[in-house]
Amino acid sequence: MTRHRIGVIGLGQRSARILVAMREIGWDFEVTGFVDDAPAGAPTLEAAGVALGRPHAFVEDLLASGPYDLVIVGSPNHLHLEHLKATLPAGYPILCEKPVVRTQAESLELARLLAARPQGAAPLFVGLVLRSAPIVRAVVERVDSGALGKLVSIDATEHLSPEHGAYIARNWRRRAMWGGSYLLDKTCHDFDMFNRLIGARAAKVASFGGQAIFSTSAPKATPTYDDGAPAYQAVGAGWQGASDPFQPDMDLADHQLALIEYANGVRLSFHSNSHAAMTERRWNIIGTQGQLTADLSKNRILFRPALSRGEAEEIDFGGLSAESHNGADHAMARDLLAALRGADAFRVTPWEGLEAGLTVMAVDQAMARGAMVDCRPMWAEYDAARRPHPAMA
Ligand SMILES: NC(=O)c1ccc[n+]([C@@H]2O[C@H](COP(=O)([O-])OP(=O)(O)OC[C@H]3O[C@@H](n4cnc5c(N)ncnc54)[C@H](O)[C@@H]3O)[C@@H](O)[C@H]2O)c1
Repeated sequence: MTRHRIGVIGLGQRSARILVAMREIGWDFEVTGFVDDAPAGAPTLEAAGVALGRPHAFVEDLLASGPYDLVIVGSPNHLHLEHLKATLPAGYPILCEKPVVRTQAESLELARLLAARPQGAAPLFVGLVLRSAPIVRAVVERVDSGALGKLVSIDATEHLSPEHGAYIARNWRRRAMWGGSYLLDKTCHDFDMFNRLIGARAAKVASFGGQAIFSTSAPKATPTYDDGAPAYQAVGAGWQGASDPFQPDMDLADHQLALIEYANGVRLSFHSNSHAAMTERRWNIIGTQGQLTADLSKNRILFRPALSRGEAEEIDFGGLSAESHNGADHAMARDLLAALRGADAFRVTPWEGLEAGLTVMAVDQAMARGAMVDCRPMWAEYDAARRPHPAMA
């Protein structure tokens, strides 16, 4: 295999972690160029011995210096559509980080662009890394096998540590104009997997949430842990970052609850909080014949048939690591390489990436309106946008 040439737009922490995982699985590549005035991922790449490549001031310059075997779009969320619009016509395979876009209007625009592409156009991969995680693949297999019977209801959580929540509140993610929403940026992975496991689209959604932790009305004393260590500063805040997590311009929720009824009758509740003393990411999936609990923080599955008197079956996936999503980054790098070689299809399509985002956007709309949202008009617009049509002249 010849050495792959990689171009990067937005060389932040995420792009760097992906590149390091690619190197660690033995992928032979070089970053030949990047666009980023202040690459937040540079220290991670340097520590791993991956050279940064040549800086370019504009995306067009980067693309003109091709060819590339892969272009990574790892910019903040509000730039994804702009960067995809510039990059798709160049015809190189693209890995775009999630959420693939940030609003319903952007989702429709990207759907139209993708629908107008000719058959066989270079692939667009979306970095919904949970799809590649060994534990998540096992959950999909078990649910698809019918072992749980017909799915009835799911309760799911994501409770982030105070440091993680503070990072979001200090980073560009604190503003809707950059991040989209708290739920979109942080949990579109989970909602993508719920769509996949349930096999239907959200029909009705309700949601409550808001700012109760990182709000300017919070006490102003410098927060410390009970051992005196400073709180909320563990990770540098990066692009548009601030040191204090109590920013007056933060306009996103820091905790949010969602209720969804899917078109096939499955019902789901989701509880997220960005300042929890005990972190948790758990999907509790209950079917007519059995229950599966996926503890994504501990990387462990429990399964028990509904009418069993025996112990629950436990599968421990091990490999806990904060740096690589418990090994999922390496698994995604392998999936990406296999897809580029044509050996296997990538585990998620751009359509599924768009649909995960749209589901969360409907949930956010319900929170903003304080009313239940009927998702049917949104899906009708989306389906019209993705209907094949010739490229506009
Ligand atoms: N799949 C995952 O699990 C996962 C995890 C973290 C982040 N992400 C996604 O990755 C993307 C980047 O997040 P991050 O955590 O690396 O953020 P980051 O702040 O570390 O990096 C963003 C980078 O984009 C650069 N940038 C800003 N404006 C730019 C422009 N106009 N052109 C080019 N570069 C520009 C910044 O200088 C910065 O280096 C986001 O979409 C985020 O949602 C995904």
